Order: sequence, then C-alpha cells, then structure tokens
Amino acid sequence: MNVIAIDGSSSAGKGTLALRLAQELDYAYLDTGALYRGVGYELLQNGLDPQDEEAAVKVAKGLSVERMLSLQDDSCIRNEVCGKAASYVSRLPKVREALFEFQRRFALFPIKKDKTPAKGAILDGRDIGTVICPEAQIKLFLTANSEIRAKRRYKELQLKGLCVIYEDVLSDIIQRDKRDQERQTAPLKPAEDALVIDTSDMT
Ligand code: DC
Repeated sequence: MNVIAIDGSSSAGKGTLALRLAQELDYAYLDTGALYRGVGYELLQNGLDPQDEEAAVKVAKGLSVERMLSLQDDSCIRNEVCGKAASYVSRLPKVREALFEFQRRFALFPIKKDKTPAKGAILDGRDIGTVICPEAQIKLFLTANSEIRAKRRYKELQLKGLCVIYEDVLSDIIQRDKRDQERQTAPLKPAEDALVIDTSDMT
C-alpha cells in the first residue's frame, strides 16, 4: 500500500499540498471531506436536517461509488452551508462507518480521474492517519493559527465572488475546529507517527 495521509484542520493547506503531491508523484487523490460535504448537500437538497441521524445515515449508505468518486469535483458542495452540514454529519459514527469502506478501497486500489490504476494514493481529511490508513507510510498533519486560516478562507470566498464577513468566517472556523476535535468518533488529532507541519507562515 503506497499511501500518503494528510490530515489537519480546515484551510491549513491540506488540499493544496495533496493535489500538488498527487500531480508530482502521479498518485490518485481523494479529498475525503468531499464525502461528508456530499452527505450534507444531499440532506439540504431534500429539505432534511443535517443533525437528523437516521436521514444522514440513509444518505451516506445510499451514495454510489461513482457519486463518491465525483464529489470532489462538484462545486455545489464547496460553500459554507455544506461545510457546516458536513461538520454535523461527520460527528455521527454510523455515517463515518458507512463511508469507511469506500475510503479504504481507494487507498488499497487507487484509481486516477481517467479511471486508470495509480501506483499510490493520497488521501486528505481528519482521520486518515489514525483510522482510515493507520499503516500509511507517510503521515502529515497540517496546522495553522485560526486567524490565518480564516484570512485564507475569506480571500478564497471573496475570489469566488461571495459576499462574506471576516468575523463570521473566523467564528465558523473556530466552531468547526471545536466540533472536529471534540467528537467521540475519529476526532481531529495527529497520528503518533505523523509529521506535524505548521503552515501559518507559509504561502
Ligand atoms: O475538509 P472539509 O472542510 O471539506 O471537511 C468538511 C467536514 O468534514 C469537516 O467539518 C470535517 C469533516 N471531515 C471528517 O470528519 N473526516 C474527514 N476524513 C474529512 C472531513
């Protein structure tokens, strides 16, 4: 298993690093946050509450492999509302359980966007080094101080043409960190053998 696990908090730079490494090494890349966002999106689309456990589990179990593979390219899930919904559904152990097998298979049998097999996989998320691929050869854990992350996120949203207030973005990041770190199942924390990288002073 050639796997690079990249975990860390939101806007710490996981996605950017994962994508660049995947291009450089010609590995397949899976953004696992997109799976939780996808569950949140489906619930919201159907007028359901992201905190409704039964509904969230049903949606998570119902996602097809094709849909899970395509979610990371779906721009509809990249908004703050889906991000918040994702952070609620990701607290539910049964939702995590429903998405486990797909992530595990991707790590074991990585496939690239053109559907050809890859010689390795890069997965980014919150629990890749601890739960999904504890045997990954390389584990990175990215952090950055919350104000810097909020500024990055604020800039990104502005570039998308969205009208956002910096204080709201900051408070959202702080609350999301808290939910990710304090949940019972697979909380956000570095694996014991992870290399921790603080990206606060990096571009
Ligand atoms: O990385 P992101 O912002 O797209 O993730 C959305 C939410 O999903 C975030 O609150 C944490 C959660 N998540 C998770 O619990 N486990 C993962 N492996 C990836 C994301």
